[in-house]
Amino acid sequence: MKQLNVGLLGIGTVGGGTYTVLTRNAEEITRRTGCKINVIQVADRNVDYAKKVTSGKVDVTDDAFAVVNNPQVDVVVELIGGYTVAKELVLQAIANKKHVVTANKALLALYGNEIFAAAKANNVIVAFEAAVAGGIPIIKALREGLGANRIEWVAGIINGTTNFILTEMREKGLAYQDVIGEAQRLGYAEADPTFDVEGVDAAHKLTIMSAIAFGMPLKFNEAYTEGITKLQQADIKYAEELGYRVKLLGITKRTDKGVELRVHPTLIPEKRLVANVNGAMNAVVVKGDAVGPTLYYGAGAGAEPTASAVVADLLDIARLSGADASQHVPYLGFQADAVNDLPVLPISEIHSAYYLRLRASDKPGVLAGVTKILADKNISIDAMLQKEPDDNETEADIIILTHITQEKNMDAAIAAIEALPAISGKVTKLRMEELGK
Ligand code: HSE
Repeated sequence: MKQLNVGLLGIGTVGGGTYTVLTRNAEEITRRTGCKINVIQVADRNVDYAKKVTSGKVDVTDDAFAVVNNPQVDVVVELIGGYTVAKELVLQAIANKKHVVTANKALLALYGNEIFAAAKANNVIVAFEAAVAGGIPIIKALREGLGANRIEWVAGIINGTTNFILTEMREKGLAYQDVIGEAQRLGYAEADPTFDVEGVDAAHKLTIMSAIAFGMPLKFNEAYTEGITKLQQADIKYAEELGYRVKLLGITKRTDKGVELRVHPTLIPEKRLVANVNGAMNAVVVKGDAVGPTLYYGAGAGAEPTASAVVADLLDIARLSGADASQHVPYLGFQADAVNDLPVLPISEIHSAYYLRLRASDKPGVLAGVTKILADKNISIDAMLQKEPDDNETEADIIILTHITQEKNMDAAIAAIEALPAISGKVTKLRMEELGK
């Protein structure tokens, strides 16, 4: 029987899950592939722990380069994260003509173009299902299942930490600062949660999805990234009163002028299934021209859900091992010479509907002044909510939902609204997406 020898870099949460799933489901996996997938070497800084996880059955080293240079290893599974040593290891494995499986979204978002070029030159596979939305097979769906379609847009809840925080804020009426500590205690957020809460992790994943949705290079540095740290409880509450939920969405859209590539808190109608994806779960909506909107839901992190994606990549490699590169699914789902260098639009050029919250003196004519500015900018109002001032207050919150306009037009309108004498402080602006068609 065919054998596929795996070298595992890192046997922490995901690496441990990968070893467990490969061992527990070995028979089923062999029935699927006609191949035995064996972990033959593991590199981890904690050698004793690695020996414990593998019950002393696997060669363990603390030298990851020993694994990528081991002539017996056919596939290197990179689960150590980061983009310095991980990049060196992946490129060395490729140079040694080994296939690579990685869950490292940061590495691919930043250096994927270089890594895929090296892999093509060496006729090896680099597989990365686990890099986006953990256990959800979204890479396979985009690259293969939806291959008949011209993809129009992709929008996803692709960071579980922030989805957990937003769910707690909405359900318990808590402020961001009150929830972040709980997210850390429960092990969702890292000790330094910056990548999660500032939207960087979601932007890494979105960058990968945009490249394979539209057949374009990875352009992480051009992604617009806004996290949830400034989000106010009041806006979550008002959005709900108007029939919307606030989610941190990664959105990428193809337009006539270029590609929108943006991560930010977004209002979505509560009637959409994706608006009801709560806790640390992930979901991605993909709109194809033939199929219409499709939704993919599941665990975006965790030992075995992520291992599920890592092992699925190993199954693909087991089936394709020995095949010529022309038989591999192309890295970005498009032939390398057909990848289009589409421009990414700056955020000022995107089109969106908007939620605005302003503090206004409760006097005649104030609202007329605001609506005149919007009308002069050709911005159409979709809904409006005025809250009564509290007993001891003279200012009221006004919430306006608008139809779609260009971001720079909305920003110009906001600047004019903020200059009105009856308006105090800054206008809060959130983007809104229908995600219907
Ligand atoms: N930190 C990520 C999240 C999990 O919160 O979704 C791994 O991608």
